[in-house]
Amino acid sequence: MNLTGEKEQLFTAELREQLDAWVAKYPKDKSQSAVIPCLHILQAANEGWLPKPVMDALADYLAIPAISVYEVATFYTMFDLKPVGKNKINVCTNISCLLNGSEDIVAHLETRLNIKLGETTADGLYTLREVECLGACCGAPMLQLNRDYHEFLTKDKIDDILAGITS
Ligand code: FES
Repeated sequence: MNLTGEKEQLFTAELREQLDAWVAKYPKDKSQSAVIPCLHILQAANEGWLPKPVMDALADYLAIPAISVYEVATFYTMFDLKPVGKNKINVCTNISCLLNGSEDIVAHLETRLNIKLGETTADGLYTLREVECLGACCGAPMLQLNRDYHEFLTKDKIDDILAGITS
């Protein structure tokens, strides 16, 4: 996989190694199948979000049209297209969670973090968002903190979760 010019600078040797490991899992003409894991790798390497030049470089790297990267990155809430807090808190507000009190969960988080949904704290530590069903309806109400799910939420449980975040 080759990149030229400025795009070449965006991917370190270590990153290329990680990307190549995923690309190698698919047939040579199906590198598009590696888009999701590659976006995860690049997002983690870019402070939790995906700048457009990075997505463009990935498209070149995989030899696919840029739109094939954008359509994936813009579809899933797990990918961010602008700077975010160090810790992403995604609260599900879909039907099961709504019926089990997600409005109270959101209100408590907004009070504790002193931000509204869609905002990032001034210290850059937290971004709070509402998301559609995360597939954990049987544990409603729930939230996702970075890559971890927390279910059967209560205000006390949220306080414990926040207390457990060290940075
Ligand atoms: S409705 Fe909240 S996880 Fe499904």
